[in-house]
Amino acid sequence: MPEPASQLLPYDQIKQQLDAGAVACLAPAGPELVNAHLPAISYKKSTITVELAFQRLPREAFFPIVDVLAQYFRYFTELRRSYFGVTVVADHHSPFDRRLAEKRKPGEGPELPPPMKVTFRFDSKGHGAVFFEKEALLLQEEVNCILDVLRRYALHAEGAAGASSPQQKLAELGAVVFEASPAFSADRIAGYERTKRDVEQTIVLPLLHPEIFMAVGEMARTRPGASVPRAVLFEGPPGTGKTTMARVIASQSGIPLVYVPVESIMSKWFGESEKRLDAIFDRAGALPRSIVFLDEIDAFAGSRDRAMHEGTRRILSVLLRQMQGLVDTSNVVVIGATNRKDDLDPALLSRFNLFVHFPLPDAGERAAILAYYAKHLAPEELGALSAKTEGRSGRELEDACGVAERMWASHIIATNASVTPPPVETYATAFRLKFRLSGGEGST
Ligand SMILES: Nc1ncnc2c1ncn2[C@@H]1O[C@H](COP(=O)(O)OP(=O)(O)O)[C@@H](O)[C@H]1O
Ligand SMILES: [Mg+2]
Repeated sequence: MPEPASQLLPYDQIKQQLDAGAVACLAPAGPELVNAHLPAISYKKSTITVELAFQRLPREAFFPIVDVLAQYFRYFTELRRSYFGVTVVADHHSPFDRRLAEKRKPGEGPELPPPMKVTFRFDSKGHGAVFFEKEALLLQEEVNCILDVLRRYALHAEGAAGASSPQQKLAELGAVVFEASPAFSADRIAGYERTKRDVEQTIVLPLLHPEIFMAVGEMARTRPGASVPRAVLFEGPPGTGKTTMARVIASQSGIPLVYVPVESIMSKWFGESEKRLDAIFDRAGALPRSIVFLDEIDAFAGSRDRAMHEGTRRILSVLLRQMQGLVDTSNVVVIGATNRKDDLDPALLSRFNLFVHFPLPDAGERAAILAYYAKHLAPEELGALSAKTEGRSGRELEDACGVAERMWASHIIATNASVTPPPVETYATAFRLKFRLSGGEGST
């Protein structure tokens, strides 16, 4: 996650941006709704409060909204429930940073802007509101975040007014629409330079400049044909960054990613999952442009001649038909992800015209990933840890670093020591525990 720009915006600018942004996303729902849902913004005693009122805000909306917040804030330091709702405190800085900053004398270090208090109120009629409160003005990031929350839930308001947008229908069908997010820039994936370059050249650039790719194709080819990939398969072992990469692509191209968790759609809507999948493709096609991301299509692994469940067969045939249709539609690109490419149905496999391989990270990449999750370690230390983790995926390394952090934090609490990041020995111990490496390698 990039550091948020530290410039607080002037109040007028905040108000103007929030109003204009709200009008833009509410306008399709009609003028009454615009008036009813414009954010109420106040700035008193140097505390800014922004209230977003929603026609429909079910309690479950808490989770998708926190998901939006999580793209902008790194820490959630508090969660309180009260009879009318929930309050969370979202922060760019950790409680440790804050404690350190409190101990500093004025002028000794950067001042940390206060955290944001976000309160959700739900009423019994299904209406609701989200309040953002901060004892300072807002950063640009924070204004964007508030607008993002509004955008996500304005859709519910529209639904209540009768017309519902493609995004909302997609959500009802079990797909999630991810928009571009600052949390998913290319540096979210450490190492994998070749994979990133391939993806950039073969997927992101054609998405950004389709006209140029088309024109070049037309000038060069005797017969017209697609010069941009319509269906791409990400394949490689679990935990190697396939899902993360899909979100990076959505961010880099600014095109919404329609995330379809295949397994969950199949198990949750047993019997009607093929109708849902069909509808998801249709809705995605109704967006000006979209990337349909079929995650974990391993559900279709195992070829058709083996006893395949009837339901699976039906949903597979929907998928094959929809992917066939992609040839003439240019506004949808499909990305599939699988851990088991070799077991995929051959007909499905043949629908993909580009394959991107996500191998397990090599030693250099493991060091880069470790540097991402343990940024304070020295290069030699990262190298030593990397040498002991051959065959481990990015996810396993991330998890193991989390184990080390928790071990170290418990140690700090138990010994009342001052707060420092975990030393390399703690990582070595955590890795031994997690990966059951043989002991006695000495701790670097
Ligand atoms: N190269 C990498 N750099 C940083 N984090 C990584 C990397 N590879 C995997 N991860 C982390 O591992 C976790 C799993 O990654 P994910 O994209 O879900 O993998 P996959 O979809 O291939 O199973 C994520 O939290 C991701 O951030
Ligand atoms: Mg995944």
